[in-house]
Amino acid sequence: MSGVVWITGGSSGLGRQSALEFAKRGWRVAVTARSEDELKELEGEAADFLGDITAYPGDVTDPKRMASIVSEIETDLGAISTAVLNAGTYRPMTGEDFRAEVIRELFDVNVMGSAHPMEQLIPRMIVRGAGKIYVVGSVSGYRGLPKAAAYGFTKAGLINMMESLRAELTPKGVTVGIINPGFIDTPLTQKNDFPMPFLMPVDKAAEQLVDGVLDGRFEVAFPRTFVWILKLVRMLPYALYFPLVRRVTRDRES
Ligand SMILES: NC(=O)c1ccc[n+]([C@@H]2O[C@H](COP(=O)([O-])OP(=O)(O)OC[C@H]3O[C@@H](n4cnc5c(N)ncnc54)[C@H](OP(=O)(O)O)[C@@H]3O)[C@@H](O)[C@H]2O)c1
Repeated sequence: MSGVVWITGGSSGLGRQSALEFAKRGWRVAVTARSEDELKELEGEAADFLGDITAYPGDVTDPKRMASIVSEIETDLGAISTAVLNAGTYRPMTGEDFRAEVIRELFDVNVMGSAHPMEQLIPRMIVRGAGKIYVVGSVSGYRGLPKAAAYGFTKAGLINMMESLRAELTPKGVTVGIINPGFIDTPLTQKNDFPMPFLMPVDKAAEQLVDGVLDGRFEVAFPRTFVWILKLVRMLPYALYFPLVRRVTRDRES
């Protein structure tokens, strides 16, 4: 066995597929999400793999449950050497339909749902002088995009938070990083009513996620071409960026 990895948001999409990928490569995988039945089914899917998957159901917005899950995993399976904090939610929000309630909902799951597990993991990993924590952000955190005022800001916040922590925790032996996917074909994007450039199959995305986490580099971002286009766009001055966004949005509407 390669070690113990904890994945949040493991009942569906990228988290689920990444759990299977880690288990195929011999890891003991602990998975958390609210849907207990889906997690139990996933346990069974890994029955013939080199590693295994164990369900620890819970809501990432509940700090007490996150504390008890970390203790349970470490008692049952051993020290968590790697965490992939992937649980997340998405709701489009336009400027005309701006609602504080949507900001709160996405902040609670995407940001606090990463912060509660990290609060438990960081002190344990510092004591051990070893460990890896990756949070799943998004390329939508690079710059403000249309309809993404609620979602994009949570992901931009996570990128910024992990940059701060990388510098501080590396000397303590704890590696932290950010995973920034483009569009992946999962239940989260299947509700989108617009064409998604460079849409990636979930199994390919999970392979790249696991490779990147094992490699330990700060940012794991895919698919590569889309990421580089957005990184170039990120460098544009506002005087060029806003006309470009307006043009792309107009083209899509017409
Ligand atoms: N799909 C994409 O194109 C894309 C692109 C960039 C970034 N991402 C990010 O990738 C991550 C995974 O997304 P996905 O596309 O795989 O979406 P998904 O299929 O909708 O999966 C989301 C996962 O998060 C879990 N989750 C949501 N709220 C939770 C809560 N309060 N407590 C515990 N678990 C919770 C869900 O499980 P339960 O409902 O069972 O709790 C589910 O397992 C998210 O952070 C998302 O923002 C996705």
